[in-house]
Amino acid sequence: MSNLPHPEAFVRWFRQAAPYVHAFRGRTFVFGLGGEAIAERGRFVKLVHDLNLLAALGIRLVLVHGARPQIEAELRARHQRSRYSKGLRVTDAQSLVAVKHAAGVLRVEIEALLSQALPDSPMAGAQIRVASGNFIAARPIGVLAGVDFQFTGEVRKVDGAAIARRLEAGEVVLIAHLGYSPTGEVFNLAWEDVAESVARTLKADKLMLYVDQLPTGGRGQILSELTAQEAEALLKKDGLAAPTRRAIGHALRAVRGGVRRAHLVSRRADGATLLELFTHSGVGTMITADPVERLRPARIEDVGGILALIEPLEADGTLVKRGRERLEREIGNFQLIEHDGAVLACAALYPSAEERSAEFACLAVAPDYRDAGYGERLLRACEARARELKIRRVFALTTRAQHWFLEQGFKQAGVAILPQRRQALYNWRRGSKVFLKRL
Ligand SMILES: CC(C)(COP(=O)(O)OP(=O)(O)OC[C@H]1O[C@@H](n2cnc3c(N)ncnc32)[C@H](O)[C@@H]1OP(=O)(O)O)[C@@H](O)C(=O)NCCC(=O)NCCS
Repeated sequence: MSNLPHPEAFVRWFRQAAPYVHAFRGRTFVFGLGGEAIAERGRFVKLVHDLNLLAALGIRLVLVHGARPQIEAELRARHQRSRYSKGLRVTDAQSLVAVKHAAGVLRVEIEALLSQALPDSPMAGAQIRVASGNFIAARPIGVLAGVDFQFTGEVRKVDGAAIARRLEAGEVVLIAHLGYSPTGEVFNLAWEDVAESVARTLKADKLMLYVDQLPTGGRGQILSELTAQEAEALLKKDGLAAPTRRAIGHALRAVRGGVRRAHLVSRRADGATLLELFTHSGVGTMITADPVERLRPARIEDVGGILALIEPLEADGTLVKRGRERLEREIGNFQLIEHDGAVLACAALYPSAEERSAEFACLAVAPDYRDAGYGERLLRACEARARELKIRRVFALTTRAQHWFLEQGFKQAGVAILPQRRQALYNWRRGSKVFLKRL
């Protein structure tokens, strides 16, 4: 550890990432990137290494790519010209040959990078299997405003079941910007369209779109979180670069179509993928159907996330040990705060039939998210629940957070104020302090 320039920062970062590591295992992420992102080889190699790391963490990955600059280069080499209309290439029969060549070369290059496993590279020991195939059915765009787009198409259908089978087998699925029609023709598609359609069909947990420019607010700051509504309002304004606007449009359709989150990530920043996924504030723009940070009652699927949060506190004696079974039984008493599916804080309210009282317990906030008001919000939510149940007295036992309770309007009291049954369970060796608040 002493070799690291900033060991404390590393440890802090690693701990902060822990809830996300837990939340992402087994989830499906679709990554969409244009040919520009692949053309800059140095950056692309780093991105592939990061993707490899994600695969190693048990995330199911689909990689969708475009090939615009590579097609341009093919056309130039053949002394042919590109034609565009409404930001889309018009693919005639001659350009289609260039499109197929470019896509073929890219596929081989990406597969080669994903296969890299030199002992001194970050890919050491990795064995990624890549699957590609005819997953995308396409149809021609047709004639728009008098322009015949010929072999430029749009996604007609995604074979989600076939992709899911490959993911199930632990493979990374690589999908190009090409689609096939039932008539046996090949169509050139926009990679954003393919990425969105794949994410929607798979009901992916995330769609990550790599862009040149992220949307910014009035003071030039990157807009890090947008609800679908806010994203829609942004699209109505001027000033967005065309590719960014396109990406936001696809992201929006994806979240409206059942994808949990869509992220716009800068393709220029090294490590942007990891920072966006594993830090609370992120470095890109996250678009969600509803607000990302939510206080809500816990459900049985949250047991793993809650255990990950409270186990270290049980281990150092701050919280009383619960164990999975008890937690499963008592999950209905818990409320939590989640961010992007990760449990960042939790607390429980145990109403007691005696004396219209309830215990506020198992309050825990993930270490790097403390002092941000999460504890207080959970207390308020539990108090609101208590009021609904016509409870008048809330008590808490604590060994470490006396002052926090005092500041939240609790008063210190004796063990004698506890309901009889709770008194019988009081652990004198632990010597917790008792706090009481009248509602
Ligand atoms: C105690 C705990 C739940 C507070 O949650 P939180 O979200 O960080 O707290 P809030 O943002 O609501 O409140 C922050 C304030 O409480 C204070 N505070 C935080 N933890 C405290 C503690 N253990 N004792 C006294 N004060 C504390 C902070 O200094 C801050 O006050 P300030 O703004 O005046 O500096 C959190 O620190 C935690 O999870 N601790 C470990 C587990 C624990 O002790 N649980 C209680 C078991 S009963």
